[in-house]
Amino acid sequence: MVIVAPSLLAADIGHLEEQIAMVEKAGAKWLHFDIMDGHFVPNLSYGPQFVRHFRPLSQMFFDVHLMVENPIRFLPMFADCGADQITVHIEAAQDIEQIFAYLKKSNIKIGLSLKPETSAGALKPYLDKINHILIMTVNPGFGGQSFISNQLDKIAEIKKMIGKRPITIAVDGGVNLETGALCVQKGANVLIAGNAIFKAKNPPQYITELQKLGEK
Ligand code: DX5
Ligand code: ZN
Repeated sequence: MVIVAPSLLAADIGHLEEQIAMVEKAGAKWLHFDIMDGHFVPNLSYGPQFVRHFRPLSQMFFDVHLMVENPIRFLPMFADCGADQITVHIEAAQDIEQIFAYLKKSNIKIGLSLKPETSAGALKPYLDKINHILIMTVNPGFGGQSFISNQLDKIAEIKKMIGKRPITIAVDGGVNLETGALCVQKGANVLIAGNAIFKAKNPPQYITELQKLGEK
């Protein structure tokens, strides 16, 4: 089974509640929130109040992707806004063990993310402590970029590395039916997609087709 996580960044900003209801009705199980601070990435997006606003309106699993420097500073705010999982960037996190302890105590699932230039080996010391790995398949900061295909080998390497551990493997950036199929072949089981879903002619149908990649 492939989990599809629509990335809200590509949704119609004037109709976010309807867009969220639409992807939920289509069967999406996760909703992906991209949090950007203008330092770790050259863009700004939204903060915890934004996530909190949507919490009572949806049953989806709220997957928060923190693209921020020194993420530990923001954990108390995001732990309190309805996030089910928080993913921090390994390149930005100075106190990884403290971050894990905080999230565990807050009953929030723990994700680690890698930029395209970061090698899979960086995850090794943490594999027994995390629930989720997010492999960036574009340079983080903007939606609508092209998939970087040299990340495919990294997916396979990570899949092998985690062995039987129940860790989900997500890809994020430029994911569509074509690139998503390649990622699933390599071992990804979470497809985060913004533009491919929200700009599709028929977004609910696109979500179903992405989910079906897991059956091939
Ligand atoms: C990029 C974000 C992605 C982004 C993906 O930094 O992490 O989640 O929204 O957008 P698409 O699918 O349009 O590449
Ligand atoms: Zn993201």
